[in-house]
Amino acid sequence: MDYSSFEGKKVLITGGLGFIGSNLAIRLVELGADVTLVDSLIPTYGGNLWNVEPIEGKVRINISDVRDPFSMKYLVAGQDYLFNLAGQTSHVDSMEDPATDLAINVQAQLQILEACHHYNPIVKIVFASTRQVYGRPRQIPVNEDHPLSPVDLNGVHKLAAEQYHRLFNNIYGIQAVILRLTNTYGPRMRVKDARQTFLGIWIRRLLEGEPILIYGDGTQLRDYNYVDDVVDALLSAAQSRDCCGEALNLGSEEVFSLTETAKVFLKLHPEGQIKYVPFPKDRLAIDIGDYQGDCSRIQKVLGWSAKTKFEDGMRKTLAYYEQNREKYW
Ligand SMILES: NC(=O)c1ccc[n+]([C@@H]2O[C@H](COP(=O)([O-])OP(=O)(O)OC[C@H]3O[C@@H](n4cnc5c(N)ncnc54)[C@H](O)[C@@H]3O)[C@@H](O)[C@H]2O)c1
Repeated sequence: MDYSSFEGKKVLITGGLGFIGSNLAIRLVELGADVTLVDSLIPTYGGNLWNVEPIEGKVRINISDVRDPFSMKYLVAGQDYLFNLAGQTSHVDSMEDPATDLAINVQAQLQILEACHHYNPIVKIVFASTRQVYGRPRQIPVNEDHPLSPVDLNGVHKLAAEQYHRLFNNIYGIQAVILRLTNTYGPRMRVKDARQTFLGIWIRRLLEGEPILIYGDGTQLRDYNYVDDVVDALLSAAQSRDCCGEALNLGSEEVFSLTETAKVFLKLHPEGQIKYVPFPKDRLAIDIGDYQGDCSRIQKVLGWSAKTKFEDGMRKTLAYYEQNREKYW
């Protein structure tokens, strides 16, 4: 895919010091874009200044909160693209502290869109949503026509934010496209705990010589995207005029049970171990069961499909954390 159109363009990334935002920022700087990152660096989320070490001095970093409408009004003005990635990502935390999830994932999203409407109606927005909006799949792979019935507050709130983006696209002509991400992994993800995905804590435990904990019997199915593929999807969605107002699934043709996933970890790190433990009650209550995304629509509209095999992506990821462990533990 040719992304040369980003050269010289002004780009704002909310959540730009986080996992996906920082990988996107690094790519955009390579493409010659003029990049501003906004991030609050709330310690329990994935923001980390080390994430942007490769582009130090080449991006503007604004440590502020997307809940602040005054900052956002100033920051969105004059941008060509807005990658709207800031969010509270933990499903369990959304149940324990619904008000914070509501404020960041819903109210702030409306404020960001209001700021665009009033101060930059020609900006092109890509919003990072989640497969969690579907809830428990009736069948897999899940396509975009599947009923939307989230099983946790994070899913409900991300769905509300999707609808705001769609509505501002349809009513005010602000070009917005929604990508529904599945489990994303790669360098710069949070590995301190399972707040981002369970893969993060698995990486940490593996490298610490602790057993990988599998909840349940290990048969649950998941698909995974390597972060470089997700960055490609974000850039392709931003460049295209054919998908405004739409929500498109990301995902992978490769699908793994949790046991198969852990076996890939052990293949890459043979001294690792697996331990099966009962599902914690708070997680079981909001678990979605098996999931795999159907990506035929994004393939058709944007020509995107996941390119990186899980084993290859995880090899690169483990190598990154072996080298940069002290920055992420
Ligand atoms: N990583 C995944 O597997 C995954 C899956 C589905 C959806 N998503 C979505 O993709 C987006 C990016 O996720 P990520 O994995 O990079 O997570 P992340 O936690 O690494 O990045 C999110 C960033 O947003 C910042 N942020 C949070 N609240 C903020 C606020 N109020 N003001 C300013 N900045 C704030 C955080 O500090 C963090 O740096 C999120 O919206 C998430 O819901 C991610």
